[in-house]
Amino acid sequence: PPWTSWCRYYCIAFLSVVLAAIFIPHKWSLTFGNESASMRLLNAHELSFYNGGQGSKGLYLALLGQIFDVNKGEKHYGPGGAYHFMAGKDASLSFITGDFTESGLTDDVSSLSPLQLVALYEWLSFYHKNQVLKLNCIFNMNAYYTESGEPTDTLLQVEASLAEGQRLKAQSEADKARFPPCNSEWSASTGGRVWCSTKSGGVERKWTGVPRQLYSPGSSVARCVCIENPYEDYPNLKKYEGCLSSSESCLIGPD
Ligand code: HEM
Repeated sequence: PPWTSWCRYYCIAFLSVVLAAIFIPHKWSLTFGNESASMRLLNAHELSFYNGGQGSKGLYLALLGQIFDVNKGEKHYGPGGAYHFMAGKDASLSFITGDFTESGLTDDVSSLSPLQLVALYEWLSFYHKNQVLKLNCIFNMNAYYTESGEPTDTLLQVEASLAEGQRLKAQSEADKARFPPCNSEWSASTGGRVWCSTKSGGVERKWTGVPRQLYSPGSSVARCVCIENPYEDYPNLKKYEGCLSSSESCLIGPD
């Protein structure tokens, strides 16, 4: 029949196009506005165009090499906002130091201690919760990601130090739960008083405890902590002179 003769060409041509579309590997270029959905690495210069100023491309900031769209927080990060100087750059260090001068607005966090890195990662989690992470564009100019989007040695070192900080923080929280700080008051005439209660030093608990002087290694001054069992002996812990072992409150004479 006549349709077979034209179909021979058109149908085969059509089928070939469909099959090619399915099997030939290709990059779909999905676009959101002007931006390609494939990975993009912005360097410091490119990122600086996203500072929300006149003619800028948007309002971004970077933290530890991750880029966030902070347009929602325009009143903070836009021109005239209190944190405008953090926009369009990676100023990771300043989140901890509060140094917003030009030299302080840097992504070099090698001077931070493990515990300070824990605080910095809290900011990172704040941005993950509250702002839009631009997964398709990360910052590679200085430290944190390679051209192909892999974490650099610097980032791995920061993460190792962070893990140490998390361990230290967990340890100090456990210590604080075991030896919560006492309540205290002081007057020039009568001297001081320290005492324990079921909520002292920001630690809520089932037991009241009794005050003891805790001498931390490397420190010559003692601080007051509450211990649960008045009859247990701990190294580094000393009774207050002139105060009963089991007393929940102790007076400290004026110096
Ligand atoms: C290391 C120092 C500091 C850093 C890095 C810092 C950073 C920031 C950032 C990034 C925001 C915006 C958060 C958002 O996106 O919603 C913010 C908000 C705010 N900061 Fe700070 N800040 C610092 C110190 C301070 C100090 C010392 C004060 C007060 C005396 C302060 C008061 C505030 C207030 C009130 C807001 C919220 C403003 C609002 O929601 O309208 N900050 N801070």
